[in-house]
Amino acid sequence: MKPNLFIEEFTIKNAKVTLRTPSMDDLINLTLLINSLVSENAQIAFTQKVTIESEREWLTHHIASLEQNKSISIIAEINNEVIASSEMQIQPDTEIGIIGIIVKKNFRNLGIGTRMLKVIIAQANQRGIKRLRLHVLATNNPAIHTYAALGFTETQRITNQHFRDNQYIDEIIMERTL
Ligand SMILES: CC(C)(COP(=O)(O)OP(=O)(O)OC[C@H]1O[C@@H](n2cnc3c(N)ncnc32)[C@H](O)[C@@H]1OP(=O)(O)O)[C@@H](O)C(=O)NCCC(=O)NCCS
Repeated sequence: MKPNLFIEEFTIKNAKVTLRTPSMDDLINLTLLINSLVSENAQIAFTQKVTIESEREWLTHHIASLEQNKSISIIAEINNEVIASSEMQIQPDTEIGIIGIIVKKNFRNLGIGTRMLKVIIAQANQRGIKRLRLHVLATNNPAIHTYAALGFTETQRITNQHFRDNQYIDEIIMERTL
């Protein structure tokens, strides 16, 4: 996939949402997005804010992997603000795709996450990926609900894998076949 490739457009609450692949021009917007989730203590892998330099390194690698068809990556944009990002990294030699997704707080529960995951699932299907997998904290009810509605089921649970807000939390692995 090429960077900055248009995928689709739809309207939510009178706002035009554009789905496209990311490019290096999204560096600042993506840094702001991930750091907004760290600030709200969202249930994601990151607990520390990222720097522009570390995000630049990640994005450079990420875009190279997109161009080499080793990953699928889409962002959602409203009025030039990146409000969501989702990706699927293909695990070498396994035909398994590992999915991640974040949607900015004020834009959740509007169907954007589901729509982006449907695009990722369709693209993965086209690529011949056989199985999709994701990791989620057991306390992350909105994410578990969203994934279950898309056909993902729990296949593994790693007990007490995370320590957040003074408590141990299990990590759930959810999967679906294509
Ligand atoms: C998980 C996430 C990506 C979903 O994106 P989204 O755009 O809000 O998803 P949608 O609007 O398509 O769907 C959200 C669903 O969760 C449901 N939901 C919301 N809060 C919920 C809760 N506390 N418990 C159960 N379900 C909940 C909504 O009702 C909706 O389901 P419905 O369509 O059946 O009504 C988003 O919540 C998010 O970015 N969270 C923070 C980051 C994160 O946790 N990422 C995933 C890490 S594994």
